[in-house]
Amino acid sequence: MELKQMAPSIHILWLLSIQFLVLVNGGKIPAIIVFGDSSVDSGNNNYIPTVARSNFQPYGRDFNGGRPTGRFSNGKITTDFISDAFGLKPAIPAYLDPSYSISDFATGVTFASAATGYDNATSNVLSVIPLWKQLEYYKNYQKKLRAYLGDRKANGVISGALYLISVGTNDFLENYYAIPGRSSEYTIEEYENFLVGIAASFTEKLYELGARKISLGGLPPMGCMPLERTGNLMGGSECVDSFNNLAADFNGKLNALVIKQNKKFHGMQMVFSDPYGILMKIIQKPAVYGMVFALILLSCVLSKLIADLMLFI
Ligand SMILES: *[C@@H]1O[C@H](CO)[C@@H](O)[C@H](O)[C@H]1NC(C)=O
Repeated sequence: MELKQMAPSIHILWLLSIQFLVLVNGGKIPAIIVFGDSSVDSGNNNYIPTVARSNFQPYGRDFNGGRPTGRFSNGKITTDFISDAFGLKPAIPAYLDPSYSISDFATGVTFASAATGYDNATSNVLSVIPLWKQLEYYKNYQKKLRAYLGDRKANGVISGALYLISVGTNDFLENYYAIPGRSSEYTIEEYENFLVGIAASFTEKLYELGARKISLGGLPPMGCMPLERTGNLMGGSECVDSFNNLAADFNGKLNALVIKQNKKFHGMQMVFSDPYGILMKIIQKPAVYGMVFALILLSCVLSKLIADLMLFI
């Protein structure tokens, strides 16, 4: 019950920032194209060999038909709500799902893969789809789109589409702080800058491929995720401030990147979508948002994932 009430509330801020983008632009969005991790994967991981899946109950119990689709959610995920709000499909299909084709993907598609990160080393942890490979899939998608719609129409979709990027939490929680490797190569500050560099080249490549309207998502207060709280025994299972501060700091860097890229690339309309503040408010005062408690709402996803991973170590 609580779960059901949560979903719509979290998405309000995202929707507002997206609607702002539409107002500024005044145009209609022909498609939504998504890259990222479990926060925006609608089932791609079901079609690759990885344990990072959510194709079992209770996932999807509030989804149309009560099906676990591969979304790390009881129901729809943020990007589905955004698609719906734009008058596009009620849910965004996963690119690797063979039950969909280019006629479906022409108005919305996700290349996202749960457990991935900006860093290739993060996607290696659970053998999921790295960000560079998601971009390869996107190039492939462009070819199919041109064959399906013709060059002129396809170019209109590519330049008019809204591109949503939601990734980064796993780089810190599943990689840097969880396994040896990056933490011996980089200080945390250096690692943040390394990730921001990848975000910069990713958004630049998207721009070169024709994308103009891009939403770069920030990190949630990741110290409040269930697993992080559960692990915080000394701290009375409260949120882990150090992780939250890191998320806020990283978001500041992403925000600066967005400003820089918009100046650098003519016609680019990138926005920084920051989920941190609203999620923190919901966690602190769940009742104000019509919830009984707000522990699960932070993409339960990742914690579930890590919990799964722990079983294998
Ligand atoms: C990630 O891997 C791809 C493919 O091997 C490579 O092209 C890219 O440079 C790598 N990214 C980084 C930041 O090392």
